[in-house]
Amino acid sequence: MKSTALAHPNIALIKYWGNRDHDLRIPVNGSFSMNLEGLSAKTQVVFNESLREDKLILNKKAISGAGLVRVSQILDEVRLKANVNLFAEVVSENNFPTGAGIASSAAAFSALALSASKAAGLELDEKELSILARHGSGSACRSVPSGFVEWTNGETDKNSYSFSLAPPEHWDLADCIAVVSGDHKEIGSTQGHRIAETSPLQAARVADAPRRIEICREAILKRDFETFASIVEQDSDLMHAVMMTSNPALFYWHPSTLHVMKSVRTWRRQGVPVCYTIDAGPNVHVITLKEKMNEVKEKLDSLDGVQKTLTATVGGAARLI
Ligand code: DP6
Repeated sequence: MKSTALAHPNIALIKYWGNRDHDLRIPVNGSFSMNLEGLSAKTQVVFNESLREDKLILNKKAISGAGLVRVSQILDEVRLKANVNLFAEVVSENNFPTGAGIASSAAAFSALALSASKAAGLELDEKELSILARHGSGSACRSVPSGFVEWTNGETDKNSYSFSLAPPEHWDLADCIAVVSGDHKEIGSTQGHRIAETSPLQAARVADAPRRIEICREAILKRDFETFASIVEQDSDLMHAVMMTSNPALFYWHPSTLHVMKSVRTWRRQGVPVCYTIDAGPNVHVITLKEKMNEVKEKLDSLDGVQKTLTATVGGAARLI
């Protein structure tokens, strides 16, 4: 009873921030993302009679406490569905640095959903896998399908899931991740979702989400970079406005974050196809066309405050290996 899966992290183009149900991770608004090729989490699950409890080894380190509890909850769900009564050892490894502004939980829980269900003998379809991954980390449901992915918020556990809007080859985009700090953030996204509604701006952000979703979907389908750039930046800025005005206030940006954002806007005015988007941290994801990836990486590397720039193209679905 053993299986290994690989999944890519994803970058949100329209952000998930706030839940209608925190335990089930049913979000208050739909979101969009693209998977990041070249960056991945590999997760092996073995159900074994000799184990007396679940075990988690993440990047070669044994993890206990909250991290293990979160993984065991997914294993419990799988055990119940598959009628399996064994503990499991989960060994997961990322090929990208932690603290680089890439949500490792998305790739890890997506790979876990696939490997654990397979190891237990279940044959879940993409929708069921995405719902299972969502229970571990909301954004993980978007790492299950391929390429450009939409997560419909839904109102119940069963209708909040992700599907592919277009395969990776639909549009040759790239993500240049400007790392300005590797510090561990004090307040992570799980807690952030819980306080989102303390911001008076959250209701307006959520009410306007269907408009942004629609514009982003059309821009992706038509490969319209200009429209895409302005809606992606507006959506990211709206989320950060909510973060900054929630209680407690979450200021993820560093001075160099703003420096990168302003530089990106200047480059775009000069004709370079670039836009920025920022998750719950200070590092900046700069989206561009694949053919411009190396040029944009060089530009970012030359900015004051940028420690390094990671690059990724658009990635495929979670898969067994
Ligand atoms: C800012 O999926 O990391 O990256 O469900 O608690 O694991 P949990 O939260 P998570 O939240 C992601 C927040 C975000 C935006 C996004 O990815 O859509």
